[in-house]
Amino acid sequence: MSALGTAPTEEPRAEPPRPPLASAVVAMVGAGQLARMTHQAAIALGVELRVLAGRDDEPAVRAGASYRLGSPDRLDDLRALAAGADVVTFDHEGIDPEHLAALEAEGVPLAPGAAAKLLAQDKLHARHRFAQLGYPVPPFAHARTQDAVVAFAAEHGWPLIGKAPRGGYDGRGVFVLDDAAAAARVLALQPDGLVLEPHLPIVRELAIVVARSATGERVAYPVAETVQRDAMCREVLVPAEVEAPLAARVRDLALRLADDAQVTGLLAVELFQTPDALLVNEVALRPHNSGHYTIEGCATSQFEQHLRAVLGWPLGLATQLAPAVATVNVVGPADGSDPTTRLRRALAVPGAHVHLYGKTPAPGRKLGHVTVLGDELEAARRSAREAASLLEGDG
Ligand SMILES: Nc1ncnc2c1ncn2[C@@H]1O[C@H](COP(=O)(O)OP(=O)(O)OP(=O)(O)O)[C@@H](O)[C@H]1O
Ligand SMILES: [Mg+2]
Repeated sequence: MSALGTAPTEEPRAEPPRPPLASAVVAMVGAGQLARMTHQAAIALGVELRVLAGRDDEPAVRAGASYRLGSPDRLDDLRALAAGADVVTFDHEGIDPEHLAALEAEGVPLAPGAAAKLLAQDKLHARHRFAQLGYPVPPFAHARTQDAVVAFAAEHGWPLIGKAPRGGYDGRGVFVLDDAAAAARVLALQPDGLVLEPHLPIVRELAIVVARSATGERVAYPVAETVQRDAMCREVLVPAEVEAPLAARVRDLALRLADDAQVTGLLAVELFQTPDALLVNEVALRPHNSGHYTIEGCATSQFEQHLRAVLGWPLGLATQLAPAVATVNVVGPADGSDPTTRLRRALAVPGAHVHLYGKTPAPGRKLGHVTVLGDELEAARRSAREAASLLEGDG
């Protein structure tokens, strides 16, 4: 058990003693796989990572991060997490933006800050803000009624895509609306309405991770292609096979956005390439699934980079270490079985770097990933797919 204890004390603002020999204390809201892999990087830097966990069996806690039990929905739990930490950062989006604003007003150092984080928390706010700043975004509208959806469809045609403004991830919260009746069914379950977009003719999905440090220093990782199934990211291929000028545009856009949004830490930008445009889909201000390949594939992993950036330390090189890097996610199979029972078979695939997150298996849940480095993308992808399917129980 953690020396920090579990429940918040009676005086949540009392500062816990600084752990001896820690180079810094980073508090992270959330204890999932991103916190777990951040902890892995924190160990090497002598950083104490302290996570806010809902339970003591969450992935980062099981990996040995120090922790406080609590909820991101309770301001006092966030205060207790922050007490004595050099900086507070996040492994997810699910924190009330008003709590973040309150913490900031109290002088708690957040990285990213509340205003920047909102770009990843609220898809409607982000669409407006990106458009206002001059970034290319899909046509969009906010709809609370069936009539509003029908009006948008009159302009853009069916089917439409409707998205919950807040709280969605891994495609949960993304709906294909085939007609007015479908729109009404979905709207009935969405208290905040839907962000509407045309169903875009996507040629390729791209993603890039950039880091911006508390000092303003910036670094861009290579441009990745992401492949989704059922609106969930399944594969990440690096470098994306796009023309050099397009890759440069993506990179410049992401670095500029990091400045415009005053990001501290990582910024992941997801983009759609359509036949005639490059559009910003959404952003995350934290380590991101599209950057897991950096653990083995780049000179500095995104997790270490995030720690360096939020602490205002010098950033590391983002150089890619092999001509081709492929990551394939391990997703819980339909029978609910546990991939860890099949680990040995996956490890027999040459070059497969297996990461398991220590999560309770459930169908459709991301439970791990496999990265393979190589000279050629298709071969690396084949090997990563082979190991991931063995873990998922196929083959
Ligand atoms: N307008 C659109 N047209 C076609 N496909 C779309 C559109 N919007 C989203 N998608 C598909 O759904 C996926 C998920 O959408 P989005 O990234 O907006 O949702 P999310 O659940 O927040 O994702 P994440 O898991 O990245 O947080 C996209 O990667 C894309 O494959
Ligand atoms: Mg997405």
